[in-house]
Amino acid sequence: MRRARTAVLISGRGSNMAALLAAAADPAYPAEIVLVLSNRDDAAGLDHARARGVPTAVVESRVFGRDRDGFERAMEAELRGHGVRLIALAGFMRVLTEGFVARWRDRLVNVHPSLLPAFKGLDTHARALAAGVKLHGCSVHLVRPGVDEGPILAQAAVPVLEGDTEATLGARVLEQEHRIYPAALGWLAAGLVRVEGEVAQVAAPGAGTALANPLPLPGFKPVSTSAAG
Ligand code: GAR
Repeated sequence: MRRARTAVLISGRGSNMAALLAAAADPAYPAEIVLVLSNRDDAAGLDHARARGVPTAVVESRVFGRDRDGFERAMEAELRGHGVRLIALAGFMRVLTEGFVARWRDRLVNVHPSLLPAFKGLDTHARALAAGVKLHGCSVHLVRPGVDEGPILAQAAVPVLEGDTEATLGARVLEQEHRIYPAALGWLAAGLVRVEGEVAQVAAPGAGTALANPLPLPGFKPVSTSAAG
C-alpha cells in the first residue's frame, strides 16, 4: 500500500498531532506523517514530533505580518520539499487564504472543537456552556474558505454535565477529537471520501452514522493519547 504523504500543521500543544502520529506509527495506517509544520517556534508539539523522529519545520507567521500570501508561499515551499499530498490542520490558528484552500481543495482537513455548524470560531466550550446546550462535541471537516466550514467527515458528541467548566467540558471533547481525527484522516488518505454537493460521503462501513460517544468508530482502531509530551 502506498501511504499518503501528509503534513500536520500546528500552532501549540499538538495533542491532536500526537494522536495522528500515534495512528500513523502503524504501517497499515493509510497516511504517513512526513512533516510537522508550525507557524510558531515555541509550539510544544514540535518537541513531541522531534522526539518521535518526525521532520519538523517552522514558518513564523509573525515575521510575515499581513503578508499572508508570502507566509503561505513559504509554507508551500516546505510542503513541496517534503512531497506532501495531504494536510491535516491540528490546532493551527491561522486562517488560510482562499487561494491556499483552493490549491489544496479536498486534501486539507481540520479538527474543530464543536458540533459544526454550531459554534464556529474560538472559545467553543465557553460558548456551548453559555448557550446551555446539552450535547457538545467535535468535528473533522474538509476545509473551505469560510472559517470552520466544509464537508463534515466525522463528528463525536459528548454530554454537557452539571457543574461542567470550560476545562472539564474541553477535556471531554478533546478525548473525542483524538478518536475521530485519526479515523477521518485515515478515510481521506485511503481514498474513501467523495464529496457530492458539499456533503462528504465516506465509503467505510458505518462511517455515515453519527459517532456518538462511546460508540466504537468504524474503519480504524481508536488511538488513545493524552496531551503531547
Ligand atoms: C483542539 O481542541 C482543536 O480542535 C482546536 O484547537 C485545539 C488544539 O489542541 N482547533 C480549533 O479551534 C481550530 N478552529 P491541540 O494542539 O492539543 O491539538
